[in-house]
Amino acid sequence: MYRTKTCGELRIEHVGQVATLCGWVDSYRDHKGVVFIDLRDRYGITQVVFQADTPTDMQTIARGLRSEDVIQVTGEVLARGAGLENPKLVTGQVEVRGRELTLLNKSKTPPFEPRTQDLPNEELRMQYRYLDLRRPVVQQAIILRHKLAKATRDYFDRHNFLEIETPILGRSTPEGARDYLVPSRVHEGSFYALPQSPQLYKQILMVAGYDRYFQIARCFRDEDLRADRQPEFTQIDVEMAFVKQDDILSTIDGLMAHLLKELRGEELPLPLPRLTHREVMEKYGSDKPDLRFGMELICLKEIAENCGFSVFKNTIANGNRVRGIVAPGAAEKYSRKQIDELTEFVKQYGAQGLAFFRVKEEGLDSPIAKFFSAEDQQKLIAKLGARAGDLIFCVADTAKVSSAALGALRNRLAKELALYDPKEMKIAWVVDFPMFQWDEDEQRWVAEHHPFCQPHEEDIDILETDPGKVRAQSYDLVCNGYEAASGSVRIHDPAVQQRIFSMMGIQPEEAELRFGFLLEALRYGAPPHAGVALGLDRWSMMFSGTDNIRDVIAFPKNQKASDLLTGAPAPVDTKQLRDLRIKVDVPVK
Ligand code: AMO
Ligand code: AMP
Repeated sequence: MYRTKTCGELRIEHVGQVATLCGWVDSYRDHKGVVFIDLRDRYGITQVVFQADTPTDMQTIARGLRSEDVIQVTGEVLARGAGLENPKLVTGQVEVRGRELTLLNKSKTPPFEPRTQDLPNEELRMQYRYLDLRRPVVQQAIILRHKLAKATRDYFDRHNFLEIETPILGRSTPEGARDYLVPSRVHEGSFYALPQSPQLYKQILMVAGYDRYFQIARCFRDEDLRADRQPEFTQIDVEMAFVKQDDILSTIDGLMAHLLKELRGEELPLPLPRLTHREVMEKYGSDKPDLRFGMELICLKEIAENCGFSVFKNTIANGNRVRGIVAPGAAEKYSRKQIDELTEFVKQYGAQGLAFFRVKEEGLDSPIAKFFSAEDQQKLIAKLGARAGDLIFCVADTAKVSSAALGALRNRLAKELALYDPKEMKIAWVVDFPMFQWDEDEQRWVAEHHPFCQPHEEDIDILETDPGKVRAQSYDLVCNGYEAASGSVRIHDPAVQQRIFSMMGIQPEEAELRFGFLLEALRYGAPPHAGVALGLDRWSMMFSGTDNIRDVIAFPKNQKASDLLTGAPAPVDTKQLRDLRIKVDVPVK
């Protein structure tokens, strides 16, 4: 046995016992011949002391130790002297007096020490990910992720769900991103696609009678990466038969309550709030609103249409929107220069400009205040519910642009003004998403979620005549400004399915070619079914309180989809390519 205790285990009640610990040298201090070592493993840190009377051969080893060497130490557990306890460590009341010491392995001088407070850049951390993974905060995130997955499995198992694996080598799934393709050696010129999600398989499982399915499933999407997006990520994928939308929402409500209880010891009041897509776009300018703070978007139509500021007036006359938000107490916190910077920020979302007003006791202070009568100023203040000391921002534009610009500004201001507790989790459903979105580039309607969503019964009649107004029976779970889950009731009637494909310009022959196997399955007694998928990585982020998805993935990819540890993706042997009958044609740089 290499060890009898871990480095996070010893407490005052172990005093007097002899323990053997193994771990990495976290830090090393030689204090007038007494050597102090902080020994670390994933359970914690224990202080080990080699007194001056330690036998010479061991003293030599002890003095030669350096950061990240791997050692085994045996010694007696002692209480630390009064005033010498370390309240930051759970083992801080004791130390081990080293009696035997074995150097199990020497470490090269690490490019950074796991204990450092001064982190090197992320690229270096990813290249030496094994050192980064030794950092206690990273370990906490990885442990939390394990607990999240475990609690999820417990919950679904208790509710009679079966975890069923679906293929990784499969056929392209229409989730809207680019596929990762895998060439077939046996079928020359043909390719598998890595799943963007198990969507088609899980629907087929419903046809097959496995009425409660879940899977912690790996998904692959070749899309542009962001702080909350990885090319391969994990979903908690769920599908149920003989259910309606409400059944899915309440099943996931139950899961969320279970997770909050297990991971944070918090009671989550149920049911979770359910907001319509229309409502959140109007109030928060986003379909994934951060609900930890208010700062709602307020419609200023009545004031704008009659005011003297032509930008506002013309915007309303053209059938567009003028909306505003109030940054509480921010009037003196933003200089003119900073407001110019905010103007540039909203321009990234398509806004033409950003009107602002500082609210004073006597009225509004702004370069454009002169265009508003005293009466209009008071109306504006009243409508926005603003108070002296607040800062008002307005955007006049189309509904889409004003939502995007003010929605993003709302998030930015709340963060800068610290309007919420970053540890809090505010979870809600957004329901009734539009079925279709008009794709300007392709000049056609595309599915907002995916083409298998069931439209609202009362909207089926206007499918062809007014597609923009059709609501889908689809829903997202949002948390702290992230889209944390997404799902829908599925179409189980092949005729409705064909109408949806037609609306998207997918002809019956093409539909047969791409999803023929699903359409055929739906003809063999498909039960009504619905499902949802939660982003496990995103939930791990929120539970860990990080806003970087790479912090909760053991071996993440960087923004360019590379694994800096292994160097993937990488060129392969000519022989491998020959077997696959692949010719690579990359221009020489
Ligand atoms: P969707 O595409 O919305 O739905 O994905 C479901 C959830 O997965 C997470 N997610 C991601 N997380 C990290 N990196 C990514 N690149 C990434 N893409 C998505 C999000 C998202 O809400 N088959 C449907 C679900 C269904 O209808 O049942 C689907 O995949 O949290
Ligand atoms: P201008 O009339 O272009 O000099 O703009 C006067 C002020 O109105 C500036 O602060 C602009 O940022 C702001 N502004 C211009 N266009 C808009 C708009 N579409 N929405 C909100 N504010 C605007």
